Amino acid sequence: MDHPPPLPPGPRLPRLVQSVGMMRLRHRWVPRLQRRYGDAFTVRLLPTGRDIVLFSDPAAVREIFAGDPDVFHAGEANSLLGPVMGQHSLLLLDGADHRRARALLTPAFSGRALRGYADLVTGLAKTEVGSWTPGVPFPVLERMNAVTLEVILRVVFGVTDEARLERLRPLVRQLVDVSPLVFLGYAVPRLRSVGMWRRAAERTAALDVLIREEVRERRASPDLEHREDVLSRLIRADDGGDRLTDDELRDQLVTLLLAGHETTATALAWTLHEIGLDPARRAWAREAARTGDDERLEALVKEAMRLHPVIPMVVRVLRAPSTLAGLDLPAGTTVAASILLAHSRSASHPDPGAFRPERFLDGQPARTPGSPSAAGCGGASARGSR
Ligand code: HEM
Repeated sequence: MDHPPPLPPGPRLPRLVQSVGMMRLRHRWVPRLQRRYGDAFTVRLLPTGRDIVLFSDPAAVREIFAGDPDVFHAGEANSLLGPVMGQHSLLLLDGADHRRARALLTPAFSGRALRGYADLVTGLAKTEVGSWTPGVPFPVLERMNAVTLEVILRVVFGVTDEARLERLRPLVRQLVDVSPLVFLGYAVPRLRSVGMWRRAAERTAALDVLIREEVRERRASPDLEHREDVLSRLIRADDGGDRLTDDELRDQLVTLLLAGHETTATALAWTLHEIGLDPARRAWAREAARTGDDERLEALVKEAMRLHPVIPMVVRVLRAPSTLAGLDLPAGTTVAASILLAHSRSASHPDPGAFRPERFLDGQPARTPGSPSAAGCGGASARGSR
C-alpha cells in the first residue's frame, strides 16, 4: 500500500502549546520556527486538530494564491468562522458557490461604487478627527475601531436611523471582541449552551434579529432603487435572474462587518503609531495629507501593513494531491501562506524591521514575475487569479 508523502518537519510540542504559540506568541514563535525548519514547516493546531504546512517563500506564496480554486479550497479552510458568519458567507464558499456569490457581490465594490462611498467616509473621518484635542493622548486603536465601525454601519448596511445604530453598535463590538477561547469554542457545538459561549451565541442571535429587520425594511423601502449603500445594491443585485435570499444577505453582511471593520481599524492604528514615533515621518505624512498626495499616503498604510500584518496567514485545504514549492503533498493537507514571514524577508524587503514607506514608492517590492496584481482585499489577488 502506498503511504502519503510525509509533511515537512515541525515542532513536536503538544497541540495546545502550538496553538497558543500561533495565537498569542506568533511574532516571536513563527520566525523562530522558520529559522529552525526552513521555508516550509508544519504546525499542529487545535481545535480542528489540523496540521498546517506554512510557506513563506514568495514563489510558494504565489503558488498558493494562484492555485486552482477547485483544488485550493479557501472556504473549507475558513470553516471555523461558520458559526458566526454563516454557511453562505463568501469566506466559507468554494467552487461554483463561491463564483456565484462573487458575481452577485462584486458590483457593489466596483471602482465606481467605491468612489461613491468616498464622501461619506471622508465626512465620518473628519468628524472623528475633529473630536480629538491636540496634546491630549488617547488609545488610537479604540478610536479607529469606532470610526471603521461607523463606516461599515453606514456605507455597508446603509443605516441612518440613530436608534437602530445605537442598538447595533454594542452588539457588533461584542461580537468582534471575543476572546480566543470563545472563538476556539465555536468548533464544539455543545459549548454553545454554556457560559461565555452561550452569551456569545445570544449576542450573535440578537445581532441577527436587527440585521434581518434592516433587510426586511430595506426590501420594502420606496427609495431602494436609488440607494447607494452596499446592502441596497446587494438586494438589487441580479445575475441573470439569480438573486440573494434573506439568509444569504444576512451572512454576507455579517461577513463584511467582521472582515472589514477591525482589519481596517488595526491597519490604520499601526499607521498612526508608526507616524507618531518619528517627527520627521510625521512631517512627511502631514505634507502628503495637505497636498492630497495619495501615493505617499497609500505607501504609509502599505508599509504599516507590511511591518504589522493584520492577517498573519492565508489558508487553503488541498482537494487533490499537489506539489508546492517542490514538495509533494497529499489531498486533505492544509497549507498556508505566512504573511508574517513573507513580509519580513530581507531578500524581498531590505532592512525589513524598518518602517520605510519609500519602498512602496520605488516600485512594488517583492513582486515575483507573473505574480497576481495587488487588486485589494478579496480582489483579483485572491483565490486562483493567474
Ligand atoms: C486592512 C484591511 C483588510 C485586510 C488586511 C484584509 C485582509 C483579507 C485577507 C487576507 C483575506 C483572505 C484572502 C484569501 O483567502 O485569499 C480577505 C478576504 C476578504 N475580505 Fe478583507 N481585508 C481588509 C479589509 C476588508 C474590508 C474593508 C472588507 C469589506 C468591507 C473586506 C472583506 C473581505 C471579504 C468579503 C473577503 C473574502 C473574499 C473572497 O473569499 O472572495 N476586507 N481579506
